[in-house]
Amino acid sequence: MRLIFLGPPGAGKGTQAVFVKKTYGLAHISTGDILRAQVKQETELGKTAKGYMDAGKLVPDDVIIGMIRERLGEEDCAKGFILDGFPRTVPQAVALAELLKSMGRHLTAVICFDAADDLLVERLSGRRTCRNCGAIYNVSFHPPEKENVCDACGGPLMQRDDDREDVIRNRLRVYKEQTAPLIEYYEREGLLRRFDAGGAPDSLVALVAELAGKDDA
Ligand code: AP5
Repeated sequence: MRLIFLGPPGAGKGTQAVFVKKTYGLAHISTGDILRAQVKQETELGKTAKGYMDAGKLVPDDVIIGMIRERLGEEDCAKGFILDGFPRTVPQAVALAELLKSMGRHLTAVICFDAADDLLVERLSGRRTCRNCGAIYNVSFHPPEKENVCDACGGPLMQRDDDREDVIRNRLRVYKEQTAPLIEYYEREGLLRRFDAGGAPDSLVALVAELAGKDDA
């Protein structure tokens, strides 16, 4: 299966991906995670990306498309993948279509996560992430057993730089202006499936099971 998780910040794309990738053995490709790793390593790409990310703006398309081209060529993508946070603009979607065509592949579905703004802000303000393994927690909805310590690896939890309320509001604005047009784009392609993201953190598995039954890839 080759899936796109499309949805606003805080909708739970990363959280649901954990359950789906475990069930179906898919590669989980989060452009946000790749960029944060580059920022942490202080690479040239990371230095370019940081200013955009801290302001809640999108990193330029050419940077992102180059990153994805490289990543989709890696071995773990052969069995299928989840694209989480990519594409985010129409030019990124067009570049992805060309790339998949050149690889003789097609998308199974684009899952559109729907959630109200107030819920997104609440989820993002309470998000904590493990500095070591990237596990995602929430101080209200999914707290760790021991405050600020990762249940999975014992690493320290941190708050993302872009999870401040002013930056969150900007990310939501950017999503509506630049990414939401992809909903219509993929609807026209007949690939869009809507998902109510207000349910449990593993509630997407049922929809993905239905898609897996129909997938002929
Ligand atoms: P990115 O990392 O992709 O951030 P995002 O899209 O804003 O999404 P988030 O990671 O914030 O949210 P999520 O939907 O994964 O939610 P999560 O599962 O963590 O991008 C960051 C930045 O990188 C961008 O702003 C941009 O600058 C740049 N970038 C990345 N990709 C790019 C691209 N393609 N082009 C250009 N620039 C790009 O959940 C959130 C919280 O809610 C957690 O605390 C979680 O525990 C909780 N939660 C989740 N689901 C539930 C549930 N069902 N019930 C209760 N709590 C829940």
